[in-house]
Amino acid sequence: MSNHEQHDSAHKPVQRKEMSRRQFLSYTLGGTTAFMMGGAVLPMVRFAVDPLLVKKTGSNFVKVVEESKITDEPQEFKFKIHQVDGWYESDPELSAWISKDANNNIFALSPVCKHLGCTIAWNAKGKNEYDCPCHDARYTKDGKNLAVAPKPLDEYEVKVEDGFVYVGPVRPNTRLG
Ligand code: FES
Repeated sequence: MSNHEQHDSAHKPVQRKEMSRRQFLSYTLGGTTAFMMGGAVLPMVRFAVDPLLVKKTGSNFVKVVEESKITDEPQEFKFKIHQVDGWYESDPELSAWISKDANNNIFALSPVCKHLGCTIAWNAKGKNEYDCPCHDARYTKDGKNLAVAPKPLDEYEVKVEDGFVYVGPVRPNTRLG
């Protein structure tokens, strides 16, 4: 080793790990890009899951008819429900067959036949039964299945308040024990 080389190595400055210009730029630009992407993407994520975060409020009951109009004889009443399915909102029209039982309790049956889903009607054949026009299923006033259909008619939850009948969600028939 020459004297010159010895001198060089003795006085070589300690190498510090300095950030190169390229690294500095890539960190800075990368950080800024990540920040901006976060600002753009987070609202999208929030929007995507928004319906899941929204608290369901309000009642499921819909005002349908004055209590005074309900008789022993089933009558069909139409009503609209407000439906929110993710981002899609709609107001489909439904109907219920509403009547009073022997104890003066008001109840409402779903018009959907439990055979294949056609729409039933009360006393269509003059027999004081619900009849289905599709395959002749028959049901009693309480919704008990008499022919063809495998199950009784479903029932709406009902409440009476301030002289009005409110109809709620559909549930399996509770009238037949
Ligand atoms: S759908 Fe009602 S009898 Fe078949």
